[in-house]
Amino acid sequence: MSTHRIVFAPSGKRGDFAEGTSVLEAARSLGVDVDSVCGGRGICGRCQILVAEGDFAKHGISSSESHLTEWNQVEERYASKRGALGAHRRLGCQAKLCGDVVIDVPPESQVHRQVVRKSADTRQISLEPVVRLHFIEVAEPNIDEPSSDFTRLCEALKAQWAIDASMPDLRVLNTLQKTLRAGEWKVTVAVRKGRDIVGIYPGLVETSYGVAVDVGSTTIAAHISDLYTGETLASAGLMNPQIRFGEDLMSRVSYVMMNPGGENEMTDAVRAALNDLVGEVVKEAKITRERVVEMTVVGNPIMHHLFLGLDPTELGGAPFALTLDKGQDVKAREVGLTIAPGAYVYLLPCIAGHVGADTAGVVLSEAPHMNDDVTLLVDVGTNAEIVLGNKKRLLACSSPTGPAFEGAQLSSGQRAAPGAIERVRIDPQTLEPKFKIIGSNLWSNEDGFTEEAAKTGVNGICGSGIIEAIAEMYLAGVITQDGVIDGDLQARTSRILPEGRTFTYLLHDGEPRITITQADVRAIQLGKAALYAGVKLLLDHYGVDHVERITLAGAFGSHIDVKYAMVLGLIPDCNLEKVGSAGNAAGTGARIALLNLNARDEIEKTVGKIEKIETAMEPKFQTHFVSAMAIPNKVDYFENLAKVVTFPPKKEITQAAEGEGGRRRRRG
Ligand code: FES
Repeated sequence: MSTHRIVFAPSGKRGDFAEGTSVLEAARSLGVDVDSVCGGRGICGRCQILVAEGDFAKHGISSSESHLTEWNQVEERYASKRGALGAHRRLGCQAKLCGDVVIDVPPESQVHRQVVRKSADTRQISLEPVVRLHFIEVAEPNIDEPSSDFTRLCEALKAQWAIDASMPDLRVLNTLQKTLRAGEWKVTVAVRKGRDIVGIYPGLVETSYGVAVDVGSTTIAAHISDLYTGETLASAGLMNPQIRFGEDLMSRVSYVMMNPGGENEMTDAVRAALNDLVGEVVKEAKITRERVVEMTVVGNPIMHHLFLGLDPTELGGAPFALTLDKGQDVKAREVGLTIAPGAYVYLLPCIAGHVGADTAGVVLSEAPHMNDDVTLLVDVGTNAEIVLGNKKRLLACSSPTGPAFEGAQLSSGQRAAPGAIERVRIDPQTLEPKFKIIGSNLWSNEDGFTEEAAKTGVNGICGSGIIEAIAEMYLAGVITQDGVIDGDLQARTSRILPEGRTFTYLLHDGEPRITITQADVRAIQLGKAALYAGVKLLLDHYGVDHVERITLAGAFGSHIDVKYAMVLGLIPDCNLEKVGSAGNAAGTGARIALLNLNARDEIEKTVGKIEKIETAMEPKFQTHFVSAMAIPNKVDYFENLAKVVTFPPKKEITQAAEGEGGRRRRRG
């Protein structure tokens, strides 16, 4: 029998095959990435290929559409049902060799293709499916040769897909007989990691879905993806219902300590919320829950433990021992989630006792371990989670920033919600402020602002607003480098008001009155100093004195103006062009792990190598903290920042005199 040469592009793989070999068979035997769900029956359309026309000197062949067998009835049927294939396209399972050909495999026919992402800066995601769908025809029962439906299903998987399936769990088995009969012995089997049957569906099912979840202490966000294209089809979020047990993480751990069994209530609450979110996203994607074959979850260590039903008490204090830190597969139903009957949830690994799987997600998404630049990743919350390094080394720590950046415990603080002040500017001459609120694009001194603000009110100041307010107060000379509100400015402006033994800056004279008090400034200084001291410790351990790239993760990070974060000294000096926010990078990490099995391996290995620094145990933390109380910093010069910002003349009011109202001494 004559043989013909086939060359695949873009891989360049080639081989000689007997006349009559299908393009799909040739691809498989050469290890070329061509997709198929139906196993070559001409019904899924996943194996589409393009035939190149012309002479290919470098391959020594002449390729032509006529070197494949003619368009056949199966392709005709496919085209009549699903639409024409397009010029030079064939179904790879139907087109057979009768001459030499060069075959192009388009991206949509590749299992391991790239997912298109909007920004050129973001890490490209390639697909490496954890769960794959396999259409099979199962032999019907025969009284002369008795065997179970499951045995015949396994035989079909073996014969048609070379898959040795493991014994599925009872829930999957429970669906088997009805599904086989409903599908008239043609079913699609969802197989995980080439072995585990997680779902069986009647007939041909071409796409499966996965949900990636970021369990934050305040909000939970879920994204459903088509596991075939990698596309996100719908997203939904809700407040973490555990808030009723405590606003911040430590108060939730305290709740468990004070209320035996309290962890179970919180576990139930978070699982119910996840189930609701899955319900929302499948509804929006117009599919059923059973089609969701895999989930991934990230969260800080306490959320991670509570979701798994593990007691978080040990995470409430040193040495912050985790029950489990490795990446983990658990059956979805064991954690109360209703999706495909045998589906799993994969939890990304935790880095340390208070640097969680959410930070692992950020690392996976931002990939500092693949970069030469010494990168700083910061996720600001009540506990800042900090990662520093590059492909040579990565270090991580957390720092107790407190709740001030979330607007909590500030005199006029509030969560980021409509009506919250989020942008602030202060005129250095008049000391008059202007601001923007969430929900309006207008500055407060622009026409139409009053009308727009009437819709929401001007209710308070959120985390990004307070950062700008204090940074602007510093730049305008309202506060000193040490953060003391200068009461002498009462002579120049009515915005400075005495309050007890200190002073306050009046940002908005309305209902409610929005002020920045001395205590507010202190709360922010304490938070930012803790974060900066954590960063400095990591720099010390790494042995460098500056960072080359900074990425702020999390909701807070995506709202703050990085320039003001630097003026405040929340983050170290860096070329501002290299400072950005990554939005919900933890959620993106969960999505990458959902779509790519190798990424799970990658993050587990990377996390295993991250050096964990315990800030509480480091004597230098205090020294760095004290220097970082100043704005932007007592000892560190912000060289890059100085190129774009004019620092105010040095003004000091002695600490001893602070708190004595107007009777203070000036220095410098
Ligand atoms: S493999 Fe399904 S149509 Fe070719």
